[in-house]
Amino acid sequence: MIVLFANQKGGVGKTSILWNLIVEFSKEIKSNIKVIDIDNERKSFQMLSNVREKNQLSCNYKLVDNISTKTDLIDFYNNYKAEDLVFIDSGGIDNDINAMSVYLSDFLICPTSEKLADIKVTKQFLATVDKISEKANQKANTYDKKTVHILFNNIESSKKNIEHIKSFFESLQSSYNYINIVIIQNWIVNTVGFDNAEAEGKSVVELNTNSITNPAKNSFLRVRDEIRKLLNL
Ligand SMILES: Nc1ncnc2c1ncn2[C@@H]1O[C@H](COP(=O)(O)OP(=O)(O)O)[C@@H](O)[C@H]1O
Ligand SMILES: [Mg+2]
Repeated sequence: MIVLFANQKGGVGKTSILWNLIVEFSKEIKSNIKVIDIDNERKSFQMLSNVREKNQLSCNYKLVDNISTKTDLIDFYNNYKAEDLVFIDSGGIDNDINAMSVYLSDFLICPTSEKLADIKVTKQFLATVDKISEKANQKANTYDKKTVHILFNNIESSKKNIEHIKSFFESLQSSYNYINIVIIQNWIVNTVGFDNAEAEGKSVVELNTNSITNPAKNSFLRVRDEIRKLLNL
């Protein structure tokens, strides 16, 4: 199973959310967990992982660091075991390797927020996925829509519901023919806990604050549980 985190917008939380999921899933889930970082601009998953290793915290996942081209990714795909749980951190821009990661993935998560700048670029990303999916269908003479799971991050913690932004993204469905937009119902709040945890190479669950003062942990755990259910893990 290949789970892809993608959005061409930087700073929406692709690496942060992926990081937290991997640290927590690698404690809970029996499958081999592998991570591929193809967001060449930052290599930030690798940096987080280095801090974690230095702090001698458990790293029950494997960073696959020999993938830099589309061909490398196809080779990996042809040889990996289907029972492995592979996560890809992708910048999402429209290039060969990113397009291939969209094509090969079984489950695509697109983090975004309610900020206008994030919404604008996320719409461009959805159009890109729509195009990739259209091409793939034309080649194979099929009609399978690619599902894009929208995950809201950086939401003000005072908000009790975000129906307006959920329904906005639902309304975008009619603009595309080859993607299926699914909203992840829980969301992640904007809180300094994410930066604090990353500085120590930890997940927000591992932060030494109790659950009442750890909104990062509370909102992350709801999202983790929802994603785990969606992935049948
Ligand atoms: N919910 C959040 N609240 C506060 N800061 C966050 C949150 N999510 C991510 N961040 C911070 O925002 C920055 C950018 O996030 P990152 O995951 O690197 O984005 P991307 O991978 O999409 O470029 C990081 O410093 C990260 O710690
Ligand atoms: Mg990143």
